[in-house]
Amino acid sequence: MENFEFYAPTRIIFGDGTISKLNKYMPPDVSVLLCYGGGSIKRNGVYDQVLDALSDWKVYEFGGIEPNPDYDTLTEAIDLGREKNVGMILAVGGGSVIDGAKLVAAGIPYQGGEPWDIVKEKVKVKMGEPLPLATVLTLPATGSEMNGTSVISRRATQEKFAWRSEAMFPVFSILDPTATYSLPESQVRNGIVDAYVHVMEQYATYPVGARLQDRQAEGILLTLQEIGRASLDTQPNYKARANLMWSATNALNSLIGKGVPSDWATHMIGHELTALYGLAHAESLAVVLPHLLKYQQAGKADKLEQYARRVWGLSGEGENLILAGLDNMCEFFHQNDMPTRLVDYDIDPDDAAEKVKTRFAERDASFGEHNDIGPVQAAEILRMSR
Ligand code: NZQ
Ligand code: ZN
Repeated sequence: MENFEFYAPTRIIFGDGTISKLNKYMPPDVSVLLCYGGGSIKRNGVYDQVLDALSDWKVYEFGGIEPNPDYDTLTEAIDLGREKNVGMILAVGGGSVIDGAKLVAAGIPYQGGEPWDIVKEKVKVKMGEPLPLATVLTLPATGSEMNGTSVISRRATQEKFAWRSEAMFPVFSILDPTATYSLPESQVRNGIVDAYVHVMEQYATYPVGARLQDRQAEGILLTLQEIGRASLDTQPNYKARANLMWSATNALNSLIGKGVPSDWATHMIGHELTALYGLAHAESLAVVLPHLLKYQQAGKADKLEQYARRVWGLSGEGENLILAGLDNMCEFFHQNDMPTRLVDYDIDPDDAAEKVKTRFAERDASFGEHNDIGPVQAAEILRMSR
C-alpha cells in the first residue's frame, strides 16, 4: 500500500427528514447565500423545507446555476455575495450547484485577479480563505458533498476543468434520500453510472496490496449493481435511494482512493466530450470507460481479472476473463439505460478523436496511473467508441 494522508472533515447528516436539522448545524448570526439550480428544489418542496429551517437567518438567494455550472453565471453569484457581505454559502442541489457554490465560496473573498484563475491556473485556495460552505444534496452522483473538488465549465471558450483544495470540503452536508424522489429517470441513471465510474477510476489500475480499499471499492460496485434497477423504479424506493446516495458519496469522498494508484483519464476525456458536444457528465464517462479499459487491458490485467472474478463471479483467466468482465459492465450500463458508444449520440468518433487529440496536445496533457494516456492514446480510445 502506498503512503497516504486522509482528511475528510465534512459532517454528514443522513436520512429521511434531516433537512429540518439545518438550524442545528448552521452557525448563528451569519448571513447566508442560498445557491440553487434551475428550480427543481422549488417544485419538490426542498426549497420550502430549507427556508423553514432557516427562519432565524438572513438568507439571500442565487438561483439559476446550470448543469455543468458556467463560470459566467457564477461570477454573478460572487458579485451578489460581495454586495450583501454574506458570511456563509449554502448549496442546495446536485453536483453542479455544489461545485458552483465552491467557486462562489472561494471567489467572494478572492483578492487576486479573476476567480477563473483558481479553476484554470490552479491558484491555490488556502485553508481559512474561502467562506464556509454547507450543502443539501438532491442528486446522488458526484461526491461533491463530501470532497474538496469542483468542476467548472466555461461555455464561452468550450472549456471544463476540475480544481480542488482541502479548504473546499463542505462543513456539513445533509443527505435526505427522499429529496431525490423527484429526479427524472435519466438523472438517477447518471448518478448510478457516475458513482460506478468513480470507483473504477480508483480501482482498475494495478495492485498494491491494498486489500481493504479493494474490498471497499468492490462493495460499492456490488451495491450499485444490486440497487441500480430498483433506484430507477418510478415508485420511489427508500431503501434503494438511501443505498444509492451513500454509495455515491463513498465513491468519491477519497476513502477508497487512499494508498492506491488512480487513473482519472476517463474523466479527463469525458470532460472534453461534455465541453465539445454537451453530453451529460455520466454519459460522457460511459462512452469512454469500457473502451479505455479494453485499450489498457494489458497494464490493468491483474485488477481487471480481479474485477471479473470478485464483482461478477466469473471464472477463467487472461483476456477472455477480462473481456467477459467488461462485457458485464457494459450490460449493467445498458440495463440502466446508459449507452456506451459515441455513435449512440450521433457523434462521429473520428471527429471527437481529432478534437480531443488537438486539445490534449495544446495543453501537453497526459493522464492515467502511468501518465501514458496522452493525445494519441485518447484519440485511439475515442475511435473505439463506435
Ligand atoms: O438545476 P435543477 O433545477 O436543480 O435540476 C437539476 C439538473 O437539471 C436536476 N436535479 C437535481 N436534483 C434534482 C433534480 N431534478 C429533480 N429532482 C431533484 N431532486 O438534475 C439536473 C442535473 O444536475 P447536476 O447537478 O448537473 O448533476 P450531477 O449531480 O450529476 O452533477 C454533474 C456535475 O458535477 C461534476 C460534473 O462534471 C458536472 O459538472 N462533477 C463533480 C465532481 C466533484 N465535485 O467531485 C466529480 C464528478 O466526476 C463530476 O465531474
Ligand atoms: Zn464523475
